[in-house]
Amino acid sequence: MKKINLGVLVSGGGSNLQSIIDSIERGRLDAVIRVVISNVPGVRALERSKTHNIPAVLIDPENFSTREEFDREVVAVLKIHCVDLVIMAGFMRILTPVLLKAFPMKIMNIHPALLPSFQGLHVQQKAFDYGVKFSGCTVHFADEGVDTGPIIIQAVVPVYDDDTADALQQRILKEEHRIYPQAIQFYADGRLEIDGRKVHIKDPGTMETPGMHNPPLEKF
Ligand code: GAR
Repeated sequence: MKKINLGVLVSGGGSNLQSIIDSIERGRLDAVIRVVISNVPGVRALERSKTHNIPAVLIDPENFSTREEFDREVVAVLKIHCVDLVIMAGFMRILTPVLLKAFPMKIMNIHPALLPSFQGLHVQQKAFDYGVKFSGCTVHFADEGVDTGPIIIQAVVPVYDDDTADALQQRILKEEHRIYPQAIQFYADGRLEIDGRKVHIKDPGTMETPGMHNPPLEKF
């Protein structure tokens, strides 16, 4: 089977990058990471790339006067490495049309909330402070909005009475590491059909838990 070529964009720790690397190394994901691009110097994600012999490139925004120029450089690096699918893995920048048009519906993002709730930054804390009973994470195609593109897959986690925002963040991150490789494999298998805002998965498995309640229902 032909493997898809990934370009992964990062800005930080790179635990999602690591989950993709691990899935590939375990033979569960038919993909090759051709290049990792960071917009932040010295981040752990760059070290992780080097450990796994993946080409890693720093593109420092300070060297570019506009966001479009920065994105043009990102596109150039992705094209040199023959990337098919772009993976934003904790990449903390808003994309310009330069990047979006170069990879139409070929850019995925992961967000640590159940979109469309809690778009933007620090959303685990915001969901916790709001008092939601469930939160989670979302993989979606990127578009010109912030966290607004068509949703591919979501995972739900409970928020407990005695929770902390930090514990919630870790619970969400654990699910991120499961759904991102799955979304990429759906793509690699050609099982994603985009229909306006909706992304249909060909031949989805059966859901074990079609309804969830938190706190659990008692007599109902
Ligand atoms: C992840 O929780 C990811 O969902 C979030 O940043 C973290 C990166 O962690 N992304 C966003 O908030 C984008 N809006 P990582 O560097 O360990 O993968």
